[in-house]
Amino acid sequence: MVRGEALAHDNGGSTTLRFAKKAKSSVSYCPVPLGGLDALRARHPWPEISGLDGDPPHVWSLDGGGRELVIDLIQKMRPRVILEIGTFLGGSALRWLATRPDFALIVMDPWTKDAGNWVATVIASPPVWVQDIEPLKPIWEAIQRHGIAKVALHNLRSFRGRVIPIQMPAETGCAYVRSFVEPDMVYIDAMKQPQDYMLAHQLFPTAVMCGDDWTWQDEGGGYPVRGYVHHVAGLRGCTVLAKDATWVLAQN
Ligand SMILES: C[S@@+](CC[C@H](N)C(=O)[O-])C[C@H]1O[C@@H](n2cnc3c(N)ncnc32)[C@H](O)[C@@H]1O
Repeated sequence: MVRGEALAHDNGGSTTLRFAKKAKSSVSYCPVPLGGLDALRARHPWPEISGLDGDPPHVWSLDGGGRELVIDLIQKMRPRVILEIGTFLGGSALRWLATRPDFALIVMDPWTKDAGNWVATVIASPPVWVQDIEPLKPIWEAIQRHGIAKVALHNLRSFRGRVIPIQMPAETGCAYVRSFVEPDMVYIDAMKQPQDYMLAHQLFPTAVMCGDDWTWQDEGGGYPVRGYVHHVAGLRGCTVLAKDATWVLAQN
């Protein structure tokens, strides 16, 4: 899509919103000349995952609902490049990739051992929202054998030509990606840290921001992600659209 292009969005037939207008940002950040998507892809070839050939997908999608907001955005915006911050086992990435055939998806996740071990923790002591731990057991076995990064990419293997894996935390990965390309959309679903939202806002001023965790409550019963999102929405002059766990920033 053309940068700064404004698109009409029919929000359930009642509200017309504009998504893709260039956002205002006080920070301009361009560490080196942009090398482009192909250069990023060349630097990040897929790891060897043949050890998982023939395995079924080991997907566990952490879907708190409302993802149709993002799907609607993809269908209307027709982005060229989407960045997903926090991919885990690829559940959300698979939904975006199935929506349209014509964008590249940069999946950014440090895929640390802790993320994999969390599956074992859930099996050992399931939270109330996990009703059945049986499907998690083969996923944990695969993670133990191959590591979570390879299992995630195994799950995404049928979209191999469109997915660029960046095994980095957002703190360093966002500026790194920005040195190659500015995505058209950024979906944030990582560890609910305030800096992730500000970084995405500052480094990707023309990208439409969206994400997960709208309904996530901290120990005090608050909704901190709502605060981070509203702050960025104010800086961008955007309206927050939210449904269940999903939020999208829509240009006023
Ligand atoms: C809630 S999960 C993502 C779920 C995924 N989007 C889905 O719908 O299936 C959060 C992910 O954030 C990743 N993560 C942790 N720290 C991160 C960081 N600093 N930057 C980016 N991702 C991070 C974790 O490894 C984990 O895979």
